[in-house]
Amino acid sequence: MRYLSIAMSKGRLTDAAVEMLEKIGIDCSEYKAGSRKLIFTDESNRIRFFLVKPADVPTYVEYGAADMGIVGKDTLLEEGRHLYEVLDLGFAACKMVVAGPEELAGKLDSLNNKRVATKYPRIAREYFEHKRRESIEVIKLSGSVELAPLVGLAEVIVDLVETGRTLKENGLVVLDTIADISARLVVNRVSAKMESERINRIVEGLRKQLENRHEAEKGR
Ligand code: PRP
Repeated sequence: MRYLSIAMSKGRLTDAAVEMLEKIGIDCSEYKAGSRKLIFTDESNRIRFFLVKPADVPTYVEYGAADMGIVGKDTLLEEGRHLYEVLDLGFAACKMVVAGPEELAGKLDSLNNKRVATKYPRIAREYFEHKRRESIEVIKLSGSVELAPLVGLAEVIVDLVETGRTLKENGLVVLDTIADISARLVVNRVSAKMESERINRIVEGLRKQLENRHEAEKGR
């Protein structure tokens, strides 16, 4: 039997993703042993998984180098790859927002030709140019995006907000919410057909796990 491959985001999402896979019986001990190997294998289930930069997960899945992937919705929106998004895994929940100084609250319509700093140029363009019909200049940054409006690099930012602490401590506010973000399970379009049985077993196992968690939370 061929290996079923899962591409996973390296970083924030990794631990929660590994925990979910373990709970449905996938052996992640090789990864947990802290090895520097790039591919971790569960021989008994004929599953292997590998960790890559978040933005690369959709690429591996679209090309079929991975049958499945676990990645944030922010990355899926930004990469725009052809694949199936099959399950909202619930963890790493946050929001993609437009944020800026309080003076701009309610004034997003007056941002024509303004500068928007972001790690997510595609999401920013989609929001401003297609949804709001505002023409903007996107300034691509690699991190600490909240700094941009503070030093005059941009009027507003498009970024993720989790607790809201970074915005608050830098005197910025949410001006609009673009999307709810969380970790998603994605599947290659050919694998979905060719490996439907094994993939469905994993999807259903994870779905059941999420249901059980919701039930337990309700019962508290
Ligand atoms: C993310 C995001 C915000 C911050 C939001 O940045 O881009 O800056 O977290 O979290 P909060 O609402 O809980 O404060 P990350 O920590 O990934 O670092 P980066 O700014 O270098 O991208």
